[in-house]
Amino acid sequence: MMNYNQVAEKLSQCLSTKRFRHSLGVSQTAIDLAVRFGVDIEQAKLAGLLHDCARAIPSNNLLPTAAAFGIVMNDVEYCQPVLLHAPLGACLAKKEYGVTDPHILKAIALHTTGGANLSNLEKIIYLADFIEPGRDFPGVDKLRSLALNDLDAAMLAAYDQSLHYVIEKGVPIHPASIEGRNYLLLQRQKTQCK
Ligand SMILES: [Fe+2]
Ligand SMILES: [Fe+2]
Repeated sequence: MMNYNQVAEKLSQCLSTKRFRHSLGVSQTAIDLAVRFGVDIEQAKLAGLLHDCARAIPSNNLLPTAAAFGIVMNDVEYCQPVLLHAPLGACLAKKEYGVTDPHILKAIALHTTGGANLSNLEKIIYLADFIEPGRDFPGVDKLRSLALNDLDAAMLAAYDQSLHYVIEKGVPIHPASIEGRNYLLLQRQKTQCK
């Protein structure tokens, strides 16, 4: 089993400088959120570091590599293979970096689309990817402060942001993002009805 520094060293050789710096930013932001919300810091730190490890795979190799790992794809992933870097990241984290913790692997697998009924670790990695210090987009500071106060409110804002982006680009929406957003909205409604 590699320690964090060994993982970071290996990852730095696979990713571009820019993407490696992003990964360190996600790892640090995930630590901050983990401290804030009582999530295991080591899980957050490692999941954040490795979340984009499959970005090293050239885009024309994503489909064949995913098929080789036995990843079952839906049509949206088939049309936008870049989405596969998330589930493939979980496969590589296990195979290349020796990560066995299923919670870490799942957080990596869901970091791009989100999904229904996420654990706090999964929410933290999804959000850290959005708000790490290297990110700069309109509304990022609002999302940063929201994330430190309320994970679910920040998740909803992040889903909205990413759906706007996907609609703007005119590409299909991944069903897991819709499920994740609906889940939070319906959960909130149920609490209000009680
Ligand atoms: Fe990613
Ligand atoms: Fe990322």
